[in-house]
Amino acid sequence: MAGTQTADARLTEVVNDLLANLRGLIRKHQISHDEYRRAIAFMMETAAKGEIPLLFDVFLEATVDQVDAAGRGGTETSVEGPFYAPEAPLLRSPCVLPHRANEPGDILLLSGTVRSVEGDALSGAMLDMWQSDAEGAYSHFNIPADQAPWNLRARVIADQSGRFEVQTWVPSPYQVPKDGPTGALLRGTGRHAWRPAHLHLRITHESCETLTTQLFFSGDPWIDSDVVGAVKQSLIVTPAKHEDPKDLKNKGFAKPYYSVVYDFSLPRVMRKAA
Ligand code: DHB
Ligand code: FE
Repeated sequence: MAGTQTADARLTEVVNDLLANLRGLIRKHQISHDEYRRAIAFMMETAAKGEIPLLFDVFLEATVDQVDAAGRGGTETSVEGPFYAPEAPLLRSPCVLPHRANEPGDILLLSGTVRSVEGDALSGAMLDMWQSDAEGAYSHFNIPADQAPWNLRARVIADQSGRFEVQTWVPSPYQVPKDGPTGALLRGTGRHAWRPAHLHLRITHESCETLTTQLFFSGDPWIDSDVVGAVKQSLIVTPAKHEDPKDLKNKGFAKPYYSVVYDFSLPRVMRKAA
C-alpha cells in the first residue's frame, strides 16, 4: 500500500489522539460549519503574519517545558519563547551586553557561578542571554536589526571557575504582540497580553544538559498572571539597589544601579543506554 513503509508509530499515535480529541471537541461544543471556516481563516492569518511560533509559544510552550523538565534536577527551566536569535556576539566574562549609547532604564549587574548538580564549577560554560530593553522591545524583533544589532544579546563565556559577571539593563514587563491574530485571540477570550519582566538564559557546557530558563523580578505586577504561564518561584529574584555615591563614581555610573547574584546548576548529560 502506498505510503505504509514510512508510517511512524509515534506520529500515528499522537495524530490519531489529536484527531479524536478535536472530533470530541466539535461534538461537545456543537461547532458550526461557519465556526469551522473561521478557525481555518484564523490559522491562515496566523501563518501569513508569521505568528505561528508566537501562538504556539503563548499557549503551549510552558506545558511542553513542564513535561520535558520533569525529574530533571538543577536550576528549574522555563520557556525559550519566540524571540531567541542564534549566533549572538561572543563575549568573555566580565562584560557589558551590546547596547545603544543612550540605552534607556537602569543598569543591572548579573553575576554568579555555573555548576553541575554535583557542585563542580563548569569552566567556560556559555550563557546565551537575551531580553527586552527597558521599554519592552526585543532587538531583531521590535527593534530593527540595522538600528541596534544584537541589542542586549550576547553569548557570554564564564571564567575557569564557572563565574560570570554581566552588565545589562533592567528589562520591563512586556505585552506579547497584540495587533495580530494571537492578540485577537487573547482579547476574544478575556486574557491580557502581559508577561512579567524577565531575562532569558540558555546555558550550555559540553558535560551537561542545556539549561533554557528565565529570571523574573519579585514585586512585578504580572508575576502571578504571566500570559505564557512560565513563572516558577525558584526563578524569581530580588535585585539589590546600589546608591552609594562613592561606589557609583568608582563604577562610572551616573545614577543608582541594581544587582542580582544567581548561581545556576546543570544536570550532567544523560547517556542513553545503548
Ligand atoms: C513568549 C515568551 C517570551 O519570553 C516573550 O518575551 C514573549 C512571548 C511566549 O512564550 O509566547
Ligand atoms: Fe521574553
